Amino acid sequence: MTSDTLSPENLAPLVRNTIFSGNIHHFEQAESTNTLALQAATRFSQQAEGAPEGAVFLAEEQTAGRGRAGHVWHSERGVGIYCSFLLRPPMSPADALWLSLVAGVAVQDAVRETTALQADIRWPNDVLLNDKKLAGILTEMSSEATRVHHAVIGIGINVNHRSFPRDLTSPATSLLLETDKEWPRVELAAALMRALDREYRALLRAMTGPIRTPALRFEPIMKRVESRSSYAHGKMVRVEEDGGYTGVTEGLDPRGFLRVRTDRGLRIVIAGGVRPWPRRTDAVGS
Ligand code: BTN
Repeated sequence: MTSDTLSPENLAPLVRNTIFSGNIHHFEQAESTNTLALQAATRFSQQAEGAPEGAVFLAEEQTAGRGRAGHVWHSERGVGIYCSFLLRPPMSPADALWLSLVAGVAVQDAVRETTALQADIRWPNDVLLNDKKLAGILTEMSSEATRVHHAVIGIGINVNHRSFPRDLTSPATSLLLETDKEWPRVELAAALMRALDREYRALLRAMTGPIRTPALRFEPIMKRVESRSSYAHGKMVRVEEDGGYTGVTEGLDPRGFLRVRTDRGLRIVIAGGVRPWPRRTDAVGS
């Protein structure tokens, strides 16, 4: 049987010609691959400058996997993909949300390439199958006001999980639970690395291309992200921010934030979670 370990030996041949090919680091156990990548960004083996752009950190298991808004990411051994990508994009922190958004597109592409399943994206970057959470993305960075020093995109994908703890904040699912079969993690992780490489290069092109107007520069990326998500336009949602409010989504603003039309006008969702509204249970009256 070929091993389905997320080792450099297994992954490197499948990700040649990507920025990730020469820098894959695999751990049997880690507290959090994001923590590993953030630490490596500033001090890494003998390199005074830290690990290079494209360094990837993968773990078979995380003991303190981190999710957005301080949540824990359930990281059971050997059944998921828990990985973090170190990037050094020449961008301002004001544009950094695009990194997270294109990572969502990359996860969606990788899932489709490997399984033929079409996942949805819930702003900013929850990847859903049948309205349940299949994957999550946590982007963390070090920056000054005008310049990102480095960013770490951490991605968790539920692949062969058979169950989840009851107390998760979002209902979760895995590829196995949705399809009743096991999926090769190595193939999926490699597809993810290829897709993220493509999306990141497209983002860099948009940033450094001829269009200098900030509002227009990211337009092709914005259209691409919007086209991949049922949440982008015309979705009735509840936003968990500022005490909570409801409205209908109206696409992304030029920085990638979600616009929601409410009774009191247009609001921009900055950081809050977004949920379908009315909740399903309310709709059936239970
Ligand atoms: C979310 O809350 O949706 C984001 C979850 C991100 C989880 C991944 S797993 C790999 C990386 N390491 C972490 O500690 N978190 C991210």
